[in-house]
Amino acid sequence: MTAVLQEHLSSYLAKQRWFGGKGRDFSVVHVHSLPWLPSEDVRARIEIATVAYDDGDQDSYQVPLAYLDEPDPALAHAFVGEISHAELGDVVAYDAVHLKSVTAALLAGFRQAEQKTQRQAEEKTQRQADQLTQPTFAVVEGAELPDLSEAGMVSSAEQSNTSVIYGDSAILKLFRRISAGGNPDIEIHDALTRHRSDHVAALLGWIEARWMDVAGEAQAGQLAMLQTFLRTATDGWVLALTSMRDLLIEADLHPDEVGGDFASEAERLGAATADVHLDLAAVFDTATLTADDQRDLASAMVRRLDAAVVAIPQLAEYAEALQTSFDAFATLDQSLRVQRIHGDLHLGQALRTVKGWKLIDFEGEPAKSLAERVTLDSPLRDVAGMLRSLDYAAAVTLHQFGESDQLSYRADEWAQRNRAAFLEGYASVAGDDAPSHDLVLRAYETDKAVYEALYEARNRPTWLAIPVAAIARLAAAAATAAAAAAAEED
Ligand SMILES: Nc1ncnc2c1ncn2[C@@H]1O[C@H](COP(=O)(O)OP(=O)(O)O)[C@@H](O)[C@H]1O
Ligand SMILES: [Mg+2]
Repeated sequence: MTAVLQEHLSSYLAKQRWFGGKGRDFSVVHVHSLPWLPSEDVRARIEIATVAYDDGDQDSYQVPLAYLDEPDPALAHAFVGEISHAELGDVVAYDAVHLKSVTAALLAGFRQAEQKTQRQAEEKTQRQADQLTQPTFAVVEGAELPDLSEAGMVSSAEQSNTSVIYGDSAILKLFRRISAGGNPDIEIHDALTRHRSDHVAALLGWIEARWMDVAGEAQAGQLAMLQTFLRTATDGWVLALTSMRDLLIEADLHPDEVGGDFASEAERLGAATADVHLDLAAVFDTATLTADDQRDLASAMVRRLDAAVVAIPQLAEYAEALQTSFDAFATLDQSLRVQRIHGDLHLGQALRTVKGWKLIDFEGEPAKSLAERVTLDSPLRDVAGMLRSLDYAAAVTLHQFGESDQLSYRADEWAQRNRAAFLEGYASVAGDDAPSHDLVLRAYETDKAVYEALYEARNRPTWLAIPVAAIARLAAAAATAAAAAAAEED
């Protein structure tokens, strides 16, 4: 059964939006089964699949599977494969997050953990003994859990993980790619919930487990995060696109003359982002980069630029100017303050609610390793992420409308207006009086645009023009700044 299950899982993973290894050669080489979930209605358990790539890399993925006796046409989209199982007989495996009985069993796990909280001290010893096998449900003190009658529905959002929404009260995110150790999304939500941050959805609980990896080593990590569902939320990316569309539909108005103007939202989003940065700096360690660290950071940016120029020859004409940005950053004689940051901030990670903007998804950049994702960095990396996202919102809409000179001019106006509003909101909370502010921000924005160019060249060549236009603009700004610096030296 193992080999057959591994094969079925390989083909299932390859088709999933959340699978990070698409386009690479891989196979599932090991499956560790956690114990059956407590349910009378269904046989289901979380399987931890180890994926091995041809280049020797490995990843672990979480796939809860339900084993049914008969195929269920209503679950065709969640079909994993048919298996002959020594214990179960001939069964059909489905991705279990799509079964109501399974999402109910997960919620029941949290409910039971909640009841146990009082007795936790005595049970801790017992739990430690069981840890190798049983997943553990943890509930945050004072958390209000959804009612057991609330059915869990898989969210239809485009995701790199899979979320289950319970009624309108809680959302359970199952991390698909899992790592041993703490998950930054849970760690940050936990700390900011305790800190009573206004700009995150409160953490309610999480699931952790131990499993055996392919080498037979025991690993421990976190599998899922339960948090308050923001029922009045609208996605920041959707709001920005709507505003841009409203503008371009009007024959000849400026962004500030259109009903759907986004600037006051962008400004509040900037302020919320700065608030979150202050909260993160208050609850986690902060540091000041040494000159060496700063040079290393700049060298990494230069390496990414060099790689992008090799892959995308049209970037060559900008390389020299961009290099001056990174050089200025490397030799900045003012120490850079670093702290925990979001790490993957864009408009799709911000939700507007009746109680203001909330930031979500603190996992960091999905492609990075766990160690890289918790490394302290400048908050201006997040600011740059949001600036690039505003630029994308303008460019993507322009692309849909067809690019006339007049429309491009107005899309540009929208991007500039909202980028400025975001920065103003950010500065109203964080201040931007450091003389190096613009220089550091330009280096981070350039680094992000270079990353986007590589991504688009590989995945969506028709969108490559978007980051390339930004790179051209950043190169011009770098050249101007370099000329000004040279003039000052004379
Ligand atoms: N607390 C929440 N309340 C309401 N909707 C949410 C909440 N958290 C996430 N979502 C929705 O789920 C989507 C994916 O969430 P996210 O945490 O970004 O997952 P992923 O790690 O898969 O990107 C979001 O874009 C948003 O639409
Ligand atoms: Mg996300």
